[in-house]
Amino acid sequence: MNIVLLGPPGAGKGTQAKVLSKEYKIPHISTGDMLREAVKAGTEVGKLAKSYMDKGELVPDKVVVDITGERISQSDAKSGFLLDGFPRTDEQANELDLALDKTGKKIDIVLCFKTSPEVSIARLSGRRVCPKCGSNFHIENMPPKEKDLCDYCNGRLIQRNDDKYETVKRRLVVYENQTKSLIDYYQKKHILKEVSGNLEVNALFCEIKKLFVRERLA
Ligand code: AP5
Repeated sequence: MNIVLLGPPGAGKGTQAKVLSKEYKIPHISTGDMLREAVKAGTEVGKLAKSYMDKGELVPDKVVVDITGERISQSDAKSGFLLDGFPRTDEQANELDLALDKTGKKIDIVLCFKTSPEVSIARLSGRRVCPKCGSNFHIENMPPKEKDLCDYCNGRLIQRNDDKYETVKRRLVVYENQTKSLIDYYQKKHILKEVSGNLEVNALFCEIKKLFVRERLA
C-alpha cells in the first residue's frame, strides 16, 4: 500500500505515520526528518535546507524530489511506503507521479488531515522532540513521563527551531499558498480521503484503519 499524508503543519501527520508504519509494516518516509538529518550531519543539502527550514519556507523542489526518489527506490519500500510531508507542491506531485509511473506503481490513497490554524499553533508550540531518537511529545496532549526527558532514551527534549510562534505562522501561510492546491490535484484522481486531525491520536488511528478496510486496501 502506497500512502501520502497531506495536511497543514501540526495536523498530526507524523504521529499517525509512526503508528501506521508499524501496523502495516511499511516504511515511514518523512522529508522533514530526512532534511533534519542532513542538517545535523552538516552536508551541503543540509546547509541549504536549513536556510529555508528556519524561516518556515519550503526547500527547493529539486532537492526534496531527489532525496525522496532515492528513498522510495530502496528495497524496504518495494511493497509499500508512507510519505509524510511529500509532495508539498504541484511540481513535487508531478515528479512523484512520473517516478512511480516508470516503475508501474501508484499512490493508493491520500489522507488529508483537516484541522484549524488554532489547533496547529497549539500543537506545534507545545511540541517537544528528542534530538537523540526523534520521539515526539506534547507538553499537554502527550507529556513525557518525566518533564523534559524522553521516555524512550532519556534524551533531553527540545523545541524545534521552526516551532517558534512566528515561524509556525509562516508555515501555515506557506501551506495555504503552496500545498493546499494538492487537495484538488488528488481529488481529481479520486484517491483523496479526508480525516479529522482534531481526533485524539488513538481514535484517529482507528478511523484510518476502518477507512483502509472500506477502501479494500487492508
Ligand atoms: P515537516 O517536518 O514535514 O513539518 P510539517 O509538515 O510542517 O509537519 P509537522 O511535523 O510540523 O506536523 P505534523 O502534522 O507531522 O504533526 P505531528 O504529528 O508532529 O517539515 C519541516 C520543514 O522541512 C518544512 O517547513 C520545509 O522547510 C521542509 N520540508 C519538508 N518537506 C518538504 C517538502 N516536501 N518540500 C519542501 N520543503 C520541505 O504533531 C504535532 C504535535 O501535536 C506533536 O507534539 C504531537 O505530539 C501532537 N499531536 C499529534 N497528533 C495529535 C492528536 N491527534 N491530538 C493531540 N495532539 C496531537
